[in-house]
Amino acid sequence: MSSDKLNLTLRVWRQSGPEDHGGFQTYRLAGVSTHMSFLEMLDVLNEKLIADGEEPVAFDHDCREGICGMCSMMINGQAHGPDRGTTTCQLHMRRFQDGQTITIEPWRAAPFPVVRDLVVNRSAFDRIIQAGGYVSVNTGNAPDGNCIPVPSATQEVAMDAAACIGCGACVAACKNASAMLFVSAKVSQLATLPQGKAERSQRVVNMVAAMDHEGFGSCTNTSECEAACPAEVSVAHIARLNREYSKAILFSDH
Ligand code: FES
Repeated sequence: MSSDKLNLTLRVWRQSGPEDHGGFQTYRLAGVSTHMSFLEMLDVLNEKLIADGEEPVAFDHDCREGICGMCSMMINGQAHGPDRGTTTCQLHMRRFQDGQTITIEPWRAAPFPVVRDLVVNRSAFDRIIQAGGYVSVNTGNAPDGNCIPVPSATQEVAMDAAACIGCGACVAACKNASAMLFVSAKVSQLATLPQGKAERSQRVVNMVAAMDHEGFGSCTNTSECEAACPAEVSVAHIARLNREYSKAILFSDH
């Protein structure tokens, strides 16, 4: 086999629906180009399965540009695979060896139930965002940008938090299935900017309550979430979330 083609053995989690117990199926795939993305490799597998009269593997994807956070899967036990700061759709097959076995699984967390094969239901994240509520804006003309000066260091913190794409890798990588990195990114993004300060206390209390209600686990500071995050969101945001939450509880009547 030429050096830019791979023969692979794929162990893929197959599960026909939420009630099915599921299990691994092994497929052999020959001639995979090292220039393909991981999702393109799965496309090739699915074409083969369809040609053989079998059900294709269900997996989520949308942008294939590292933006939407849909392409959630565990690859050889790592959320989004072996590259740091990289979503599955941005992972290339040149990161794998000829003859390698690749194990592909859905996120494993009770709040993310499997819908089918590699697809999980991440609507728990949507409900946490909903619990955060709104940001007050004054009606009328849009204010001049210079009227709300924001120090550049503050902007950097807010933008780093806003990089979270809500993929759920933090939850999948955490032994406690904690969503603290996700929630802290969403809280930090708004709490650090003047526009988000008006509802900051109510927002953090409501989002943490929603996170607990959805069944996500506690944070025990192992930082697996930061290592797995394709947007490289820092665990420093978790410290900020804890401060925001403590202040909200101590200095308000929640
Ligand atoms: S498909 Fe959108 S981030 Fe991967």
